[in-house]
Amino acid sequence: MEPDDAPAVAPVLEVQGLEISYGPVVAATDVSLRVNRGEIVALLGPNGAGKTSVLKAIMGLVRPSAGRVDYLAGGVRREITRVPTHDLARLGIANVPSAQIVLPRMTVEENLLVGGLYLLDDRRAARQRVDELLNRFPLLAARAGQLASSLSGGEQRQLAIARGLMPGPRLMLLDEPSLGLSPIMLNSVFGMLARICREDGVDILMVEQNVRKALEIADRAYVMRIGGIEFSGPSDEVAEMERLKDAYLGG
Ligand SMILES: Nc1ncnc2c1ncn2[C@@H]1O[C@H](COP(=O)(O)OP(=O)(O)OP(=O)(O)O)[C@@H](O)[C@H]1O
Ligand SMILES: [Mg+2]
Repeated sequence: MEPDDAPAVAPVLEVQGLEISYGPVVAATDVSLRVNRGEIVALLGPNGAGKTSVLKAIMGLVRPSAGRVDYLAGGVRREITRVPTHDLARLGIANVPSAQIVLPRMTVEENLLVGGLYLLDDRRAARQRVDELLNRFPLLAARAGQLASSLSGGEQRQLAIARGLMPGPRLMLLDEPSLGLSPIMLNSVFGMLARICREDGVDILMVEQNVRKALEIADRAYVMRIGGIEFSGPSDEVAEMERLKDAYLGG
């Protein structure tokens, strides 16, 4: 790991020596990474490299066979390796997976309410938060009463991100937010993620296959090859590395 990776303060999220297996299939070995306060961090790599598995292990959705995950919230650092998913939400971690992202038979507004109800104190607080988010996401505001199933893929992705923001998280994990987005929608979603980090103070760890786009908004990146981290560094260094590799491999 590069010395410039060393944080001055404790990282918000720290993953150390994570190993994930599905029966005989080893999805990840010795994966270590961290997210510092105020950062967008990208986790890159080809299909099957183990990126989603790493996010799932952090979220308590798969149990790692080795390693640990620590999280800093309210000045307290704690191990969250075996903390159940719903408790992680309470601790301020939002998860935006890549599939099954909205409740299709509910309206946009109802999707948002559901995203916050069990964490916000009361309906009024939830209602107020929905209004804040609809202000923030004008495209969703125009479709507030529409069934989520009638939204375009890009709109559904925006809704999933907005729903993740409902409880006011400190850390957001996203799995391939660019998946299936047109270039215009992609710019809009990524611009939104940058603002969510800079303006709302939500730190972000996102898995991406759109390397160029991800590196535009990320501060640092980790690149996985099958099963492990190949290299990491500030986004400009990773971008240079990827360019060189493309040049050599003709990719
Ligand atoms: N539930 C599972 N059972 C068995 N094997 C799995 C399971 N989930 C993932 N794997 C395997 O683990 C490896 C890593 O998968 P993972 O989904 O983490 O990769 P990924 O980097 O997210 O890939 P992609 O870019 O295609 O989403 C793959 O070989 C995959 O087949
Ligand atoms: Mg994946």
